[in-house]
Amino acid sequence: MTILDFIERKRAHKKISMVTCYDSTFARILNQTDIDCLLVGDSLAMVMHGFTSTLNASVDMMALHTAAVVRGASAKFIVADLPFLSYRKDLTENINAVEKLMQAGAHAVKLEGAEGHLDLVHHIVQSGVPVMGHLGLTPQSIHMLGGFRVQGRKKSAQEKIKQQALELQQAGCFSLVLECVPSTLAAEITKSLEIPVIGIGAGPDVDGQVLVLQDLLGMNSGFSPKFLKKYLDGMELVRDAVNEYHNEVLQKEFPTAQHSYDEGLKL
Ligand code: KIV
Repeated sequence: MTILDFIERKRAHKKISMVTCYDSTFARILNQTDIDCLLVGDSLAMVMHGFTSTLNASVDMMALHTAAVVRGASAKFIVADLPFLSYRKDLTENINAVEKLMQAGAHAVKLEGAEGHLDLVHHIVQSGVPVMGHLGLTPQSIHMLGGFRVQGRKKSAQEKIKQQALELQQAGCFSLVLECVPSTLAAEITKSLEIPVIGIGAGPDVDGQVLVLQDLLGMNSGFSPKFLKKYLDGMELVRDAVNEYHNEVLQKEFPTAQHSYDEGLKL
């Protein structure tokens, strides 16, 4: 997959699948799947580091996780999130952040919103770096939005998101994530743009879908928004496996001779 395939997929009406990935273990597994694209999302601040929002992700943190994913998933197209405020500084600092993520091995960067950084998007694209936009619920602006809530319910908000989607396309974005907006709005934006729209909580009439890997694997029983489908009860499976190991250790059922070395035998 390259950015050319993104546009081609839209033209051919073939959907794009994307999932988040933050580490080498899962990257190695995802590398063997049919998934089209991996996103090293700044949601890693919450999922991997236990923070309550994405505001705690830093450029160094994103670069470290991006490099780990790249080492595990050499066959995949990898997008890395520019974290909170890292693209709202002066040009040198903004470009330094992009440089760090690209040198970590990303193939593209993603940033949230449009207002105030359209020129920067254009500059990054002109510098040879593909940019994915992100509108609707933009978690880095959580305090301005008043919480994690559906965006674009009112007519005025819908017009603003439509306008910004067009502006991001004009600035050179190769695709756009639309998060938690009414399906009708997502469908309208998808129809109006030449670049593919990847939805999360944006209904079925978009060009692709993205989910947080740990959410779709059911690793967090406390997180069940309407848009999420869990494809596994990962939390229960992991808990059961670890409890089984614990019990076998206590019952002296593990390790047995099968898992033990004779003298002189190699690892
Ligand atoms: O950081 C992230 O995981 C994201 C997706 C939800 C699109 O931006």
